[in-house]
Amino acid sequence: MAVERTLSIIKPDATNRNLTGAINAMFEAGGLRIVGQKRIKMTLGQAQKFYEIHKDKGFFAELTEFMSSAPVVVQVLEGENAVSRNREIMGDTNPDNAKEGTVRKKYALNIGENSVHGSDTLENAKKEVAFFFKDEEIVG
Ligand code: CMP
Repeated sequence: MAVERTLSIIKPDATNRNLTGAINAMFEAGGLRIVGQKRIKMTLGQAQKFYEIHKDKGFFAELTEFMSSAPVVVQVLEGENAVSRNREIMGDTNPDNAKEGTVRKKYALNIGENSVHGSDTLENAKKEVAFFFKDEEIVG
């Protein structure tokens, strides 16, 4: 088992419904520690850069407009196997397929407005953490 860090984003649909604390409680109960956190409003350009990997997908415009539509909370979560652990806590991207007890089953509205983002691999986690955080903003 390895202690890892992963990038999490609490998305606009969740911040709009005042769910930041409820979702953070699920991360903490699931064994992850919030070692970096800030509430920001992304510009459209920032969202396009962050989600560049999806630029050829049909949902790219919808995704980037949504992510820059209202505040998000970007966070660094730390713990044993944090990348996969966070993905278990979040549940499937599509809330219709998410398991009971996961964040997306509980709170997601649909596949786009799905309340949280989490890095999919450790390699991407390192890039995504560096996209939003300076080293000194992460306190383990
Ligand atoms: P996220 O983990 O933030 O990574 C990419 C996002 O694209 C994903 O969560 C979904 O919110 C979004 N997404 C994936 N598929 C679709 C889709 N078919 N329509 C709208 N958004 C999607």
